[in-house]
Amino acid sequence: MSESVKTDIDLNEYPHINRGLEGIVAFSSNKSSIDGQKGELIYSGYNIETLAENSSFEEVCFLLWNDRLPSQEELEEVTKKLQQHRSLPDPVKDYIRNTDKEGNPMTVLRSAVSMLEDYYEDQNGELLDNAIAIAAKMPTIVAAFDRARKDQEIIEPLTDHSMAHNFLYMLNGEHPGEQASKTMDLALILHAEHGMNASTFTCRTICSTESDMFSAVTGAIGALKGPLHGGANQEVMKMLLNFDEDPEHADPADFVKSKLERKEKVMGFGHRVYKVLDPRAVLLRQMAEDLSKETGHENLYEWSQTIVQTMHEEKDIDPNVDFYSATVYYSMGIPIDMFTCIFAMSRVAGWTGHYIEQAENNRLIRPRALYMGEKNKAWTSIEER
Ligand code: SDX
Repeated sequence: MSESVKTDIDLNEYPHINRGLEGIVAFSSNKSSIDGQKGELIYSGYNIETLAENSSFEEVCFLLWNDRLPSQEELEEVTKKLQQHRSLPDPVKDYIRNTDKEGNPMTVLRSAVSMLEDYYEDQNGELLDNAIAIAAKMPTIVAAFDRARKDQEIIEPLTDHSMAHNFLYMLNGEHPGEQASKTMDLALILHAEHGMNASTFTCRTICSTESDMFSAVTGAIGALKGPLHGGANQEVMKMLLNFDEDPEHADPADFVKSKLERKEKVMGFGHRVYKVLDPRAVLLRQMAEDLSKETGHENLYEWSQTIVQTMHEEKDIDPNVDFYSATVYYSMGIPIDMFTCIFAMSRVAGWTGHYIEQAENNRLIRPRALYMGEKNKAWTSIEER
């Protein structure tokens, strides 16, 4: 007879299991602070609203890599380095040209980032140089795949202009207007960092084994791809476009209520930490309202507001960062299946900032699991089973 379930974990010490590590503080970090009760988000000392109003994505990259804002000279230097590292090694471009055109862009992004390590001349092996190389190349990968899958020529990156401007240029084959660049830059700022979310946790875990940054970012992209995390923005857009099929009879409130009755999650709502409105959603809501009006997609914003109202009444749950970013990206003409790639192009700043922080004071990340199975069972031959 096997023993009853006993374990070397003293249940008095571990009275319960925090499923999903909810509420567990496992790190100290300078990268960001999230107050879920106040709806406050701070990147290395600066409120997200302050950064949204005054900063650029390049400046936020420096902030997350160095825990301080750059001087004018430092900003020019990091901007130049990011511009210089945008182009892709030929074998990576060949992969992008020849891979399945129907492929998931996040799959292509994950695979291409993973390949980069083979072709990255490891200059002085500085972590910051790796971070710059990966962050600079991700927009090029994303835009190149969209061109290739449409049988269009891949457009070489510019060696000037901002990351936001250059991305839209590589995607559309023409220089974007100032408003479009500013909107993209703001979206990149808002998605850059968010504490110990699933993809950042993945990145730090891979770093903690002393594996390389390319592997850590590859793993993080895999984590972000899921609909419970970065993949939600694409699902939100599909939900809104459902109503576009028959606008006259659209009834978002009824749609949401029936989903809730079926115990289904409404994408773009809820958050493990925020128990009030996500401060990023506050800023993205205004962007969504303005852009949808400018581009003739007012319906999307109106339906969004009906959904927000219904979720509030039915479940008292607020929208998160993914809810309004969907309308913003759609109004900018970004293909829906690339929304999460844009999230990744931004969050790579936070991932690599956390990688550097983990490496500076590393300890292997290795939690425990409470074994619930039997022990010391007698062997039974296959004939007896
Ligand atoms: C991001 O962690 C981060 O910081 C992530 C992120 C970042 O910047 O990195 O902010 C980005 O990933 C935002 C989240 C994007 N995901 C979605 O929009 C998917 C839909 N959201 C849910 O799956 C959910 O809200 C989570 C996963 C985001 C959070 O889930 P939790 O904390 O595990 O909460 P839960 O699933 O235990 O839900 C608690 C209650 C449940 O109701 P009861 O069973 O107790 O009655 O709230 C309900 C849930 O059913 N609920 C929802 C809901 N989210 C929670 N009900 C309907 N629709 C939802 N979206």
